[in-house]
Amino acid sequence: MSNLTPFLVANFKANKKTGDEISNWIDTVNEKVEDFRGTVIIAPPYTNLAQTDWKLKSINSKIKLSSQDLSKFEQGAYTGEVTASLLSDLCAYSIIGHSERRQNFNETDEVLETKVQMATSAKIQPIFCIQAVDTLIPKGVNVVAYEPIFAIGTGNPDTPQNAKEIAKKVKEKGEYTILYGGSVTAENVKSFLEENVIDGVLVGGASQNPQSFATIIEAAK
Ligand code: PGA
Repeated sequence: MSNLTPFLVANFKANKKTGDEISNWIDTVNEKVEDFRGTVIIAPPYTNLAQTDWKLKSINSKIKLSSQDLSKFEQGAYTGEVTASLLSDLCAYSIIGHSERRQNFNETDEVLETKVQMATSAKIQPIFCIQAVDTLIPKGVNVVAYEPIFAIGTGNPDTPQNAKEIAKKVKEKGEYTILYGGSVTAENVKSFLEENVIDGVLVGGASQNPQSFATIIEAAK
């Protein structure tokens, strides 16, 4: 799967949105996506995936769908789990290794390696989050999101200069598409993307409001 850049990901996290809110988000953002040469991805909660997929198809949108996680298990007797094979009809991408999952759900490097394998064998492209330059990146990963913990949800982003240094170092390890995540806004997105070292952004807080995410796309054009 080719990754057209800039690569912009909206991570809704576990924030509740009604069907109408999702539909309105897509209509608003889609207007900016039509003449955008990069990749725009929406990662809603599991419970919104089917409706989001339906809506995107109904307007023939270029926006791609991602899950925010997936199970380390294959399908079968795993009550409550959402496996890669269950997601594969809906999602082209899956966020794996987000620091909120590493911290709150004890996801180790070993678990994350298994999740990456599950994703790739179901033809889902992992968007793999690292918190530092030495975070282990499993085989099969093409898209890496550098997300320093201090910057997530704090309004205190890393400096573009440091984020670019990290991106360069990660690119020395392999041919990765590198995203930056952590307090990205419409005001600061350009500073991360200019110079073409960082290939895209992963956006939490500022992606919740469609107008604000649309402004981020506009700034990235
Ligand atoms: P933030 O979240 O944009 O709200 O900092 C980013 C993320 O957690 O991916």
